[in-house]
Amino acid sequence: MSDAIENRADENRVNDLWGGRFAAGPAAIMAEINASIGVDKRLVAEDVEGSKAHCRMLIAQGIISQEDGAAILAGLDRVLAAFRRGEIALKSELEDIHMHVEAALQERIGEAAGRLHTARSRNDQVATDLRLFLRRALDRLDRALVELLSALIARAEEEAATVLPGHTHLQAAQPVTFGHHLLAYVEMLERDRGRLADCRARMNESPLGAAALAGTSFPIDREMTARALGFVRPMRNSMDAVSARDCVLEFLAAGGILATHLSRLAEEIVIWMSEGFRFVSLSDAFTTGSSIMPQKRNPDAAELVRGKTGRILGAFTGLAITLKGLPMTYAKDMQEDKEPLFDTVDNLALMLAASAGMVRDMTVDRARMRAACAGGFLTATDLADWLVRVLGLPFRRAHRATGSLVQRAEALGCDLAELPLAEMQAVEPRIDRGVYDVLPIERSVASRTSLGGTAPERVRAAAAAARARLGPAP
Ligand code: ARG
Repeated sequence: MSDAIENRADENRVNDLWGGRFAAGPAAIMAEINASIGVDKRLVAEDVEGSKAHCRMLIAQGIISQEDGAAILAGLDRVLAAFRRGEIALKSELEDIHMHVEAALQERIGEAAGRLHTARSRNDQVATDLRLFLRRALDRLDRALVELLSALIARAEEEAATVLPGHTHLQAAQPVTFGHHLLAYVEMLERDRGRLADCRARMNESPLGAAALAGTSFPIDREMTARALGFVRPMRNSMDAVSARDCVLEFLAAGGILATHLSRLAEEIVIWMSEGFRFVSLSDAFTTGSSIMPQKRNPDAAELVRGKTGRILGAFTGLAITLKGLPMTYAKDMQEDKEPLFDTVDNLALMLAASAGMVRDMTVDRARMRAACAGGFLTATDLADWLVRVLGLPFRRAHRATGSLVQRAEALGCDLAELPLAEMQAVEPRIDRGVYDVLPIERSVASRTSLGGTAPERVRAAAAAARARLGPAP
């Protein structure tokens, strides 16, 4: 398909009063603002699929003859093939994909082409195409999500016992396992999968047969076309069918949340790769060098995942604003739904693939992660918990005593595990040697066996459960 769009409407008639600002005359400007073919040419397969289902129904109901119907069906296949070979010239006066397909059909089979549009309007046609496209896109994105999930689960299994500082406020808080950290993203992305599946279930109804807005007097069979196109049922209300775009909004909202999660993961990769952390590195496959600073390896793929999230959230906002003031039923404003939809589908697919690639590519520096756990008093909570459990202190008092011990260790320049017993007893005389059992990082992590906790055994079980939820590999 060629990208050039011919616009032949009144090139030379520039309006004398205000035409100076415009390169083309009013009719040409109208054709240019009105045409959507540059964008909706992407719906050619869906348009032909919908038209064939409609045509078969018209034949079955005796609304058009077997003969005309057969010519239309064969012609539509030829039109699709011609489109794919780039043989169909795109013209702005033919506005959109629907008119291009019909015009191309007319060229190939003549008069009979004109019967295809019986009991149909471009309004129910475009709504049908859109849903067919969205359903396919949702299935494709689901497969990409499964890829990313399995990459995360595999890494989580490998790093089930790798310790690193867990953060709150980006301040080192308590030691956690890297596997546990990665499984947090598995949880988020599984919910994203659920949101996209919900969207798919709700959008999977057929608008076809709603005609312009009011239905039709022809004896059509909407159940038949719905079934043929894989929809669960026809949409119940013809006015809703031609004007509803909440399926796109719902997708953009769910996609925006998914993008937000991918962006957070990307941001963590950026942090982990930064000088202060160096917890992970990415190979040349997912980084770029600097044109001036030879030492640099920049996490561009992660930054682009983070960056693209902005346009995806913008797509939702943009379309929501487009729709919010529209009275029933169809208005041309709705033509603006496709660019944000297509852009979001394409970018989410890229972001998911890049994220899966980075997760697989990432080299984990376990020694640096372990070393980062020293010095931050990360097991202070374990000490406080010991005071509660063994000495029976109320947690608040234990918290205060531990605070004093951290202060002492800081003053002496040592870790809590290295603080002499005498120092401990100066704060709380009943502390004994048993306290040192809970202070090593690995002990701390291993002790967090509560449901949803970070202990390696919990992480291994959680990874196995997540893998089972994913189902068998495709
Ligand atoms: N290109 C149009 C769109 O995408 C198709 C529907 C046109 N309907 C109409 N009544 N002009 O919305």
